[in-house]
Amino acid sequence: MIGIDPDRDRLEKIRKAEAPFFEPKLKECLADTIAEGVFSVADDSSVNMRSDLAYIAVGTPSSEDGSIDLTYVKNAAAAIGQSICDTTHYQLVVVKSTVVPGTARTLVKPVLEIESGKAAGKGFGLCSNPEFLREGNAVRDAELPDRIVIGGEDVDAITRLENFYKEFHGEPTPPVIRTTHESAELIKYANNAFLAMKVSFINTIANIAERTPNADVKAIAQGIGLDERIGSKFLNAGLGWGGSCFPKDLRALVRYSKSLHYDPELIEAIVATNEKQKRRAVELARQALGSLKGKRIAILGLAFKPETDDMREAVSIPLIRGLLTEGANVVAYDPAAMQNARAIFRDRITYASDPCGCLDQADCCIIATEWHEFKTITPRIFLERMRHPVVIDGRRIYNADEFSSEGIRFMGIGLGPKAS
Ligand code: UGA
Repeated sequence: MIGIDPDRDRLEKIRKAEAPFFEPKLKECLADTIAEGVFSVADDSSVNMRSDLAYIAVGTPSSEDGSIDLTYVKNAAAAIGQSICDTTHYQLVVVKSTVVPGTARTLVKPVLEIESGKAAGKGFGLCSNPEFLREGNAVRDAELPDRIVIGGEDVDAITRLENFYKEFHGEPTPPVIRTTHESAELIKYANNAFLAMKVSFINTIANIAERTPNADVKAIAQGIGLDERIGSKFLNAGLGWGGSCFPKDLRALVRYSKSLHYDPELIEAIVATNEKQKRRAVELARQALGSLKGKRIAILGLAFKPETDDMREAVSIPLIRGLLTEGANVVAYDPAAMQNARAIFRDRITYASDPCGCLDQADCCIIATEWHEFKTITPRIFLERMRHPVVIDGRRIYNADEFSSEGIRFMGIGLGPKAS
């Protein structure tokens, strides 16, 4: 295996078996494969000429109008095409990147054909093979995927890739969906849109529950999640979804739909619901403290979710910006994302070196990411450390009754007022 990337600093790190970002088990995987001599890296794409299988796994960021920017995909296809133009052996090219329907057929294939001088299906094969791995769980998801989706127009290429995965995963092989390029490409967007919809749905119910005496979204999520047609996953209400995938992919799906002269109202509503949800914690802080001017607000959790240092489109960013606009003094802590946070907020906020220190003299604490280590902070610690014990549990990690009975003003996403 050889990984090709133009970023030399990144390659240097990988050569030393250092993961370029925080991801559980990645460091160990890198160390093992490098020590076994089965993985190396290069910045020169011509080394690809000897390989049997070439993955395009580059980023597909949002353009300014929200549509997908396919520049990196195009460049990668061109580099692969050039690298195989003088070879005689068959290479299977696989599009792993998230791309809008039509990309493999109308962009990747012609670029490969022009640059290689070969015809798809003869000189090389082409498949679409979206990935579904989650940050924070990427190694496990790669080893044990729920399913494998392979799209293409060439039965032989699809079969070759299916056989590769059969060998890679062994028995039992995860279910394989064989389909067209376009369906495979759309499956990826539909998957992320559906998951984002589930979260925005439960956040909507949370907002209704917050206005309903004695209601609790956690009980509601449990109640509906046991219905097998709904399922219990992705029903954790919170401050909204973020990350490098859902926001970008939903925007791209909206733009793609509109390019087909179709208004995807449901998808737009999922995004709008999330934008509103991101403001919820500031509203709750205002409700608890009145004016936020000069108030010290502790933020526990900055990464877009636990087990990652990734802050791309993290909900903590608009949350902190909203608090700063209201004149609050923000002190923040995250077990993994402090470096990324410093690059974003610089000296506009204070950085704590541990979660309990973050609470010192705070007028309010907001839980923005549900890191495991925050779950063990007891009500007593909040009471001892904070100036005013106001806790806004944006991820519902604490027991509301326990906190309230200890004298903490406890507000939770999706928690209705107590009434008899
Ligand atoms: C997501 C998908 O889950 C992966 O299947 C997909 O491969 C990936 O995008 C991608 O397109 O590359 P990821 O962005 O790593 O993975 O994160 P998720 O675990 O899906 O969480 C996304 C956001 O939803 C996070 O901000 C998380 O806090 C939020 N979320 C998730 C909730 O608020 N509640 C939930 O119940 C679940």
